[in-house]
Amino acid sequence: MEIIIQETAQDASNVAASIIAKLIKDKPNAVLGLATGSTPLPLYQRLIELNLDWSQVTTFNLDEYIGLPRDHSQTYYTFMWENLFRHTNIHPANVYIPDGNAADIPKFCAEYETLIIEKGGIDIQVLGIGTDGHIGFNEPTSSFASRTRIKTLTEQTRKDNARFFDNNLDEVPIHCITMGIGTIMDARQNILLAFGDNKAPIIVETIEGPLKAINPASILQMHPNAKFCIDVKAASQLKRKDYYNWVYSNRPEWQKY
Ligand code: PGA
Repeated sequence: MEIIIQETAQDASNVAASIIAKLIKDKPNAVLGLATGSTPLPLYQRLIELNLDWSQVTTFNLDEYIGLPRDHSQTYYTFMWENLFRHTNIHPANVYIPDGNAADIPKFCAEYETLIIEKGGIDIQVLGIGTDGHIGFNEPTSSFASRTRIKTLTEQTRKDNARFFDNNLDEVPIHCITMGIGTIMDARQNILLAFGDNKAPIIVETIEGPLKAINPASILQMHPNAKFCIDVKAASQLKRKDYYNWVYSNRPEWQKY
């Protein structure tokens, strides 16, 4: 794991953006895995500013609520088009977001997995992290081997997300479709973003705590190419912060991005 600690959320997002920009320049038909929530917003802002050529890029989103109409303001479909896609030249046919209104959800999920493989697999998967350690919507005790499927959101996640639904918990869906932890682990590279004091306890648990299904993000300890781009607030409880900073400032020229 590479732990990249930056002063601000925007600085950390800029590092992630430069890694993604390099991928798209080196491999114009790159496949990206994308996330939603507040966390990736500064990353998407930076990617828009970089004015990249998205014409051959394919994207797969991690998750989507079940049961909201697709054009509802809080679907991840709306989020992605508003905050990233409509500002790029991405081809709509190359955008894949789980369909929370699919008639046959298990069939849809199996097809999503097949599509990821058919498109060559995910080069870089962007991740946020829930305060309970979820990645995608893989809530605590999700199987580390799980694939795209229906999940039931925890009360904590629904409370965390109520802010997007006028703080009305009843409006937050109970179910979602999410890529599985196995799906996320198949990505060639994972970049997890986390910002702010409220993420500090789960970040220390994920990076320096034990591997355990109760903290799904801890599986990233097993990934051969996982980067954490985090701000100083989210990093504040890390015991080996000085070492991570030392590694980052002494990385060889060829490792720079
Ligand atoms: P947030 O959500 O970016 O809104 O904090 C992260 C997550 O739930 O994965």
